[in-house]
Amino acid sequence: MDLGLEGSRALVAASSRGLGRAVARELAAEGARVVITSRSKGTLEEAAAGIAGETGGQVGWVAADLRRAEDVRRLVAEAAGRLGGLDVLVTNSGGPPAGDFEDFGDEAWREAFELNLLSVVRLVREALPHLRASRSGRILNIASSSIKQPIEGLVLSNTFRAGVAGLAKSLAAELAPEGILVNTIGPGRISTDRVRQLDEARAKELGITPEEAKARSEAGIPLGRYGTPEELARLATFLVSPANSYVTGQAVLVDGGMVRAL
Ligand SMILES: NC(=O)c1ccc[n+]([C@@H]2O[C@H](COP(=O)([O-])OP(=O)(O)OC[C@H]3O[C@@H](n4cnc5c(N)ncnc54)[C@H](OP(=O)(O)O)[C@@H]3O)[C@@H](O)[C@H]2O)c1
Repeated sequence: MDLGLEGSRALVAASSRGLGRAVARELAAEGARVVITSRSKGTLEEAAAGIAGETGGQVGWVAADLRRAEDVRRLVAEAAGRLGGLDVLVTNSGGPPAGDFEDFGDEAWREAFELNLLSVVRLVREALPHLRASRSGRILNIASSSIKQPIEGLVLSNTFRAGVAGLAKSLAAELAPEGILVNTIGPGRISTDRVRQLDEARAKELGITPEEAKARSEAGIPLGRYGTPEELARLATFLVSPANSYVTGQAVLVDGGMVRAL
């Protein structure tokens, strides 16, 4: 299948490592021109050079903190300026801290709101004029499997990911007349730094090793293992490509069958 991504212009948020990096790499491998972003210049420079080396693609970077409105404005303006517009926006961010309801006060709630929901609102708002001007505007949100089933001990994530899913469903209907397709991917347990940290925290809490925590977690996944960032990136790349012309408003899990909800 030809995905039709050759020459596509893509901004992938939170992409110096983990899921965002894998999506940016897959897009570059398909011939898209990509801008990656995170807070740390050093990591970004390394990631951009790494992706370009691995794919032969064109990869630029802009440092920005997704919690700051002015950073998001500058990020989208610089990315669109360098690429000559935008066809693809992938929203993504760091994960909020793990914990239960009574672990968090207002400040933590506000921070998680800014990082995991308001950043998506702002990225979409800034990117919309460019996506409207594209012939195949695509928005993809990377959220969490918690959009279908809340995860124990992750109350902040459970709350704001649901907001992202609701926002995406609303946007899909609002933007369909303009040919912009909007979808959300919910990762289950994909091997990245974030998941390693969550396993370490759980291991500490239960007095077991991180390897044991991982093994227990894998036992709840029908495919019996964590996924790889590349496995998620392949679906992401299809959803944002011109080859996807009729899938919009969907929330799709990449979780090896972990969530049992219909
Ligand atoms: N991996 C999974 O299985 C899984 C499952 C469910 C949900 N998720 C969610 O999916 C998202 C990506 O996960 P991941 O596993 O790829 O995480 P990760 O390995 O921790 O990578 C997070 C990325 O976000 C960037 N970032 C963090 N805070 C930022 C900020 N304020 N502004 C700009 N960039 C920021 C990081 O770079 P800097 O730190 O240098 O800024 C890094 O590039 C997270 O929200 C995570 O909670 C992941």
